Amino acid sequence: QIKACLFDLDGVVVDTAKYHFIAWRELAQELGFDFTEADNERLKGVSRVRSLEILLEIGGIELDDKRKEQLAAQKNENYVGYIQRMNPDEILPGVEDFLKKLKENGIRIALGSASKNAPLILKQIGLTHMFDAIIDGNSVSKAKPDPEVFLKGAEALSVESGDCVVFEDAQAGIEAARNAGMHVIGIGHPDNLKNADFVIPGFEEMTIEKLKFD
Ligand code: BG6
Ligand code: MG
Repeated sequence: QIKACLFDLDGVVVDTAKYHFIAWRELAQELGFDFTEADNERLKGVSRVRSLEILLEIGGIELDDKRKEQLAAQKNENYVGYIQRMNPDEILPGVEDFLKKLKENGIRIALGSASKNAPLILKQIGLTHMFDAIIDGNSVSKAKPDPEVFLKGAEALSVESGDCVVFEDAQAGIEAARNAGMHVIGIGHPDNLKNADFVIPGFEEMTIEKLKFD
């Protein structure tokens, strides 16, 4: 019996990958190399610091920690400029209806995101009030696939791991959910998401009835 649903944010509730992409590409160009949309795929679900390391690897650039910190901050400032302009129209199709159905059925809702910008994004899209607990990049120390973010979510809701289901669009997030001993539904294409209970293209395909696992 599922008692709680834990949602990743980026790529599940909203498509922020496009803003991350623009901000990372601007940084790459400033550093003198190109950064493609295919490269951007590698950053999904990955922490800010690790994203920068991957970007620098692609550009073949090595920098000290202090400079890396500056560049990560610079990218974030740029990124925040984009998400400050987000609005409720950017909630992905079917998400809001599904959240309402969960509430009607007494199923608890938590956010489990790597992003330190999660509170701002939720505010911009007007969904903060739908979450009973918000665990984000400000409250965890270990990145997915470590289960910390989801375990903290379950704890905040006082629900056992086995009674939780996670919604994730990134492989690292699916592994994190598994490492937490939770059910997991992939959002996207099955070819890119291994080890989920099942994968759906988006929340328009999702119903309460599908929250049944053996
Ligand atoms: C994840 C995104 O949700 O959050 C990653 O999928 C991002 O692409 C990470 O790097 C950290 O986000 P932020 O907003 O703290 O830089
Ligand atoms: Mg994601």
